[in-house]
Amino acid sequence: MLEQDNQGVSVLLLEEVSRDYQVGRERVGALKGVSLRVNAGEFVAVVGPSGSGKTTLLNLAGCIDRPSSGRVFLDGLRCDDVPESVLSGLRAEKIGFVFQTFNLIPVLTAAENVEYALQLRPQAPPAGERRKRVAEILERTGIGPLARRRPDEMSGGERQRVAIARALVGRPRLVLADEATANLDGQTAAQIVGLMRELNEEQGVTFVFSTHDSRLQGMAKRIVELRDGLLRGGRSC
Ligand SMILES: Nc1ncnc2c1ncn2[C@@H]1O[C@H](COP(=O)(O)OP(=O)(O)O)[C@@H](O)[C@H]1O
Ligand SMILES: [Mg+2]
Repeated sequence: MLEQDNQGVSVLLLEEVSRDYQVGRERVGALKGVSLRVNAGEFVAVVGPSGSGKTTLLNLAGCIDRPSSGRVFLDGLRCDDVPESVLSGLRAEKIGFVFQTFNLIPVLTAAENVEYALQLRPQAPPAGERRKRVAEILERTGIGPLARRRPDEMSGGERQRVAIARALVGRPRLVLADEATANLDGQTAAQIVGLMRELNEEQGVTFVFSTHDSRLQGMAKRIVELRDGLLRGGRSC
């Protein structure tokens, strides 16, 4: 059974979450009791130096990893202790992911990459509705004219726009972007974060993105800072 978050529905709630890794004989504490609440409509940057735990935090938030201790709630549902078979449906329905390396399918066009994300959803819309939604989101992310290109026929910034369209087409509750701009030049990186922020404001999509780039932090509505697996300033609920 999925347990309810009884503190009011937040899009994401981490309660005293820790994640240890076993490296040889040593246990490395990547996160050490982090509590974080993210409400609908927030635009949050997770910042901190390399190795501070940003990727670990986003992987736990996206239920692609499980905490060593603590609890994770997604849209009010506890998800750290449910079977993978339930989790994959929950992830497909509620979360959009944007990755540093874009992770587009090389043999598919931009439009097909975005549509594929819709086909994976537990209740995939019919073909006509899918095409309409794909065309709308590609237009909005500035990829309309490039819809029939494959990833190797696009620049890094264009590929990341396709990845953002793919993350958003299913109308997720939460978009998680881990170092999504790390492979882009400074100007393109700022444009991509700017696009995410516009989508946040226009469509109310909740974003949590990580970056080690201090220039991009200023574009966030809220900054959560990690140092050595701990939230700076203590709890951020
Ligand atoms: N799979 C892993 N195995 C062992 N240690 C890991 C693993 N993933 C991350 N770590 C360690 O956990 C800490 C946090 O890593 P990470 O979350 O990737 O930080 P960041 O994304 O901020 O660079 C680091 O000390 C890192 O070496
Ligand atoms: Mg990282």
